[in-house]
Amino acid sequence: MKIAEDFPQSSVVSIDICQEFTEHCRKEASLRNIRNVHFELQDAMSLPKDWSERFDYVIANNTIHDIPLASQALLEINRSLKPGGLFSMAEFNISSNLGKVISSPDSKAMGRFAFPLSLYHCVPVSMSSEDSLALGACVGAERLQKIAESTGFVVKKVDRSDPKFMHLLCMKKKE
Ligand SMILES: C[S@@+](CC[C@H](N)C(=O)[O-])C[C@H]1O[C@@H](n2cnc3c(N)ncnc32)[C@H](O)[C@@H]1O
Repeated sequence: MKIAEDFPQSSVVSIDICQEFTEHCRKEASLRNIRNVHFELQDAMSLPKDWSERFDYVIANNTIHDIPLASQALLEINRSLKPGGLFSMAEFNISSNLGKVISSPDSKAMGRFAFPLSLYHCVPVSMSSEDSLALGACVGAERLQKIAESTGFVVKKVDRSDPKFMHLLCMKKKE
């Protein structure tokens, strides 16, 4: 919604698999009079056939870790992008080395908060289908980078400068 608000000339499609969340967002956009965004109930693991090479830029904010087959979602996002299109993935700023995350002496380290949250919410949510990767919120930078690289992206930047969220900027190969 913020992207649509900040870039009024753009045309934004926002998806979620949850009907209540989608309806809440629709109402919020209407209250804020944001007209260049529309909300669709869609499963990121199976996007509409006619979305191939449709978008310039896709953003997944704090979402990929909850999707049972995250690699399938990234393959679909890749398909929906134009060649050379960009994909921003924002996730908790954590290393994939869980030992390091849990034993960090820093009591404010993101892992201290994210690990229990992930264990009781995100991991069960992401286990909701057969063959699930069950990534959870502690998936970490290194594993996400590997998933992006194995699904047709070039990872241009992994920005871990913010203490809470990291940003993986990925580009669809031009072929
Ligand atoms: C942690 S919430 C983040 C919500 C939102 N992106 C934000 O930043 O406020 C994760 C979201 O992923 C959605 N989600 C989970 N699996 C999905 C899927 N297969 N396709 C699309 N959305 C999905 C959930 O319904 C939930 O709204």
